[in-house]
Amino acid sequence: MFGSEANQEAERCWHRSERRTTRGAMTSPRLNQTVAFLGAGNMAGALIRGLLASGALLPSEILCTDVRKPRLEELKTKYGVEGLTSNEEAARRANVVVLSTKPQVFDRLLPEVSRGIRGDSLVVSIAAGIPVSAIEAHLPEGTRVVRTMPNTPAIVDAGATAIARGTHATDEDIELCTAIFESVGRVVVLDEYLLDAVTGLSGSGPAYIFLIIEALADAGVKVGLHRESALLLAAQTVLGSAKLLLETGEHPGKLKDMVTSPGGTAIAGLHTLEAGGLRTTLINAVETATARAKQLGEEMGKKLEKK
Ligand SMILES: NC(=O)c1ccc[n+]([C@@H]2O[C@H](COP(=O)([O-])OP(=O)(O)OC[C@H]3O[C@@H](n4cnc5c(N)ncnc54)[C@H](OP(=O)(O)O)[C@@H]3O)[C@@H](O)[C@H]2O)c1
Repeated sequence: MFGSEANQEAERCWHRSERRTTRGAMTSPRLNQTVAFLGAGNMAGALIRGLLASGALLPSEILCTDVRKPRLEELKTKYGVEGLTSNEEAARRANVVVLSTKPQVFDRLLPEVSRGIRGDSLVVSIAAGIPVSAIEAHLPEGTRVVRTMPNTPAIVDAGATAIARGTHATDEDIELCTAIFESVGRVVVLDEYLLDAVTGLSGSGPAYIFLIIEALADAGVKVGLHRESALLLAAQTVLGSAKLLLETGEHPGKLKDMVTSPGGTAIAGLHTLEAGGLRTTLINAVETATARAKQLGEEMGKKLEKK
């Protein structure tokens, strides 16, 4: 899917995801699946919490594995979900298997999944950079795989996730994955070739925004505010501006114009930002991060091919 077709698909997803505007206001339909998270770290923890809070899954429908037993105990105490130390067993007992370890251990993880997985299971990868083809090559022929790229605001239900279909995944698989990731934020469905760009934008984006918030807070201190007030005002301004844009659906340029009165303060500040090349700097940052994601993905794909 290319060009305007891809844009139309993204647009459809935008609108589908739009119904979630504020956290907690929405409950999800029950998914009626058994989902295993292999690697119970930050991202898996965020998804488990989101899926339970939205009512999409029950604790008895979630399994997780980790090499760290205390983490499994923590998740059991917090959410009532079962923890296992065998990836193979978890894969055998689930019909949705989420690969949520770091990409670096996929060479050990995939053979374990392959031994356990059932013929009718869906495999969902959240690992940055690992191509669908490399995952499919290590699983039984015909396994349905979906690759995703979430981001850390999923931890507070404000994630942005892109989902890409593998060779054998069905429309129903995409619907299911969309429901899973909508439990922690917003979702777009894209072709896999765009996931490096997603990594460069929304995957790495929280780092850019934290830098911007920190810089704005420094600026507030420079003009006389206390650090604490400056940080709160900076962070809330970023949050509120994003919320205003998402909830009104207005073009950012129009919302910017609403703040810029003739001869006023905002236009004076904007002039300085343009003179400092902020727009170009952000474009360059996303472009560089996208290129780095592509490079890392190729390296990891090659490493897995050798196995
Ligand atoms: N964090 C992000 O911004 C972000 C964004 C998008 C996608 N992702 C992807 O999400 C995935 C998880 O990231 P994360 O931040 O949640 O990582 P994480 O917190 O490190 O979680 C991974 C967990 O898996 C455990 N583990 C290691 N080897 C294992 C094995 N063989 N079997 C079972 N568990 C194992 C790790 O234990 P040890 O710590 O002891 O190794 C850790 O507890 C990564 O693939 C990453 O690329 C992350």
